[in-house]
Amino acid sequence: MAFKPLVFSGVQPTGNLHLGNYLGAIKKFVELQNSHDCIYCVVDLHAITVWQDPAELTRNIREVTAAFLACGIDPKKHIIFNQSQVAEHAELAWIFNCVARLGWLNRMTQFKEKAGKDRENASVGLYAYPNLMAADILVYRATHVPVGEDQKQHLELSRDIAQKFNSDFKESIESRGFGEAFFPLPEPLIQGPATRVMSLRDGSKKMSKSDASDYSRINLTDDSDTIAQKVRKAKTDAEPLPSEQKGLEARPEADNLIGIYAALNDVNKADVLKEFGGAQFSAFKGSLVDLAVAKLGPIGAEMKRMVGDAAYIDGVLADGSSRAQIIAAETMKAVKDIVGFVRR
Ligand code: TYM
Repeated sequence: MAFKPLVFSGVQPTGNLHLGNYLGAIKKFVELQNSHDCIYCVVDLHAITVWQDPAELTRNIREVTAAFLACGIDPKKHIIFNQSQVAEHAELAWIFNCVARLGWLNRMTQFKEKAGKDRENASVGLYAYPNLMAADILVYRATHVPVGEDQKQHLELSRDIAQKFNSDFKESIESRGFGEAFFPLPEPLIQGPATRVMSLRDGSKKMSKSDASDYSRINLTDDSDTIAQKVRKAKTDAEPLPSEQKGLEARPEADNLIGIYAALNDVNKADVLKEFGGAQFSAFKGSLVDLAVAKLGPIGAEMKRMVGDAAYIDGVLADGSSRAQIIAAETMKAVKDIVGFVRR
């Protein structure tokens, strides 16, 4: 069955939005709005799977929204909202808790990483997190999901859940005229030279919001001087840059900085190496600072301006939530009928 193309993605409001979030996800969100209908969600229900200070959570929800807007997502043509305002996400997640298998969740590497050694003490929400993520996407029957590389496994689980629901309820789905499948199998969009941006301090670690060192990442709200300092201090090796991509193998820090440059400049790594092959890092870093400041400076400045206008941000979220809810409620009605619940 052909489903109408629809893009959905989400970002957690857990502070320190960084270059990885931008290049791996938000920059793609902006590009996709020219070719698709898009729904972009600030996933606050996901954030509380680990403890969040309430005042900080509120601030972070507004900051992620400001980032979406400052990067250029149009909240009128598309939908920007926060997850907790559309109760259908949690409702469908419960049904998916009953569709997904324990064995599937036990394989999730992100849970293992986040729960660490003290697994007994992790929240049940952190464990069931991928089921909520599947619900986020499928409550809109979305077909395409732009994300960074680290979300690939969760997306595969979303597809497994959609497929199992379609097959568990096959007869019920068909008898209600929904064709052979009620849910699409959502496709991950993981493309380009920066799908996994690495820490500036250690090329073997992902750039992350929670790294103790602020020098490991470039935050979207960093000013020009901070960006320059972080790029200059970024770890490198002693060799000049290679001219061919093969020369980046086993040089994770060089590979990372070249990938960042390529993504910021909308070219590929080979193009960057053509320009900088043979150059010393000091020269390349100078160009990277100029490029990063030119691309990120205006975004950071606009974010800072917008978070000062909470009423405007909250208005965008309220409007987006009511429009999202209309679609989600329609899906939930059908899901309840398919499952066999009695409803008003
Ligand atoms: P989150 O909030 O951790 O990250 C938001 C987006 O940024 C991407 N990302 C990166 N990309 C490249 N390099 C990095 N170092 C890097 N770090 C983060 C993530 O892949 C993500 O695309 N579970 C999701 C949020 C979510 C979601 C969804 C996404 C909830 N429901 C439904 C898509 C669809 C998360 O924690 O992303």
